[in-house]
Amino acid sequence: MPCGVPAKYPGKTHFKPGANYAKPSGNPLGKNPSDLWEFLRDEWDGAFWDIPNCKANHPEKTEHPCQFPIELVERCVLAFTDVGDWVLDPFGGVGTTAVAAALHQRRAVSFEREMAYQQIALERMQALQAGTLRYRPMGKPIHEPTGGEKVAQVPAQWLQHR
Ligand SMILES: C[S@@+](CC[C@H](N)C(=O)[O-])C[C@H]1O[C@@H](n2cnc3c(N)ncnc32)[C@H](O)[C@@H]1O
Repeated sequence: MPCGVPAKYPGKTHFKPGANYAKPSGNPLGKNPSDLWEFLRDEWDGAFWDIPNCKANHPEKTEHPCQFPIELVERCVLAFTDVGDWVLDPFGGVGTTAVAAALHQRRAVSFEREMAYQQIALERMQALQAGTLRYRPMGKPIHEPTGGEKVAQVPAQWLQHR
């Protein structure tokens, strides 16, 4: 069975008149690669991409202070290149662009002036090849706090400003 990402809006239905009118428009198995363009189209319609940044406990986080999330680059790679194309990132940091390109069977060139970041980029590419790289799958719904978590509470010192 395909391993899908649960749909964010599973209750969505087809709205255009026709055979599918009012039927669920999503996939009961969730988002999977065959849904890719549908979910990207939905987000384009929404006019912005909502992708968590690489802070706190993000699985892709390295020591780089301004690392891109892989998904951000993946979307561009898929939108603007074909399988086998070259992708160049002259400010490659820890290799996010190269990882995103390789994930989708593109070739990549990455420049980076800091040796420490080059090393991390190399290790990420090796981990990708070995199947051990931790990353957030494209299209994974963003965790919404329930309100009960400690980090979702308004700090006591802020209450005086309300
Ligand atoms: C915004 S960061 C890129 C982060 C990258 N997108 C990632 O996810 O890891 C820009 C990077 O460009 C590098 N850089 C700046 N000037 C450079 C230059 N002249 N040649 C190569 N790399 C450079 C910096 O060291 C920094 O790591």
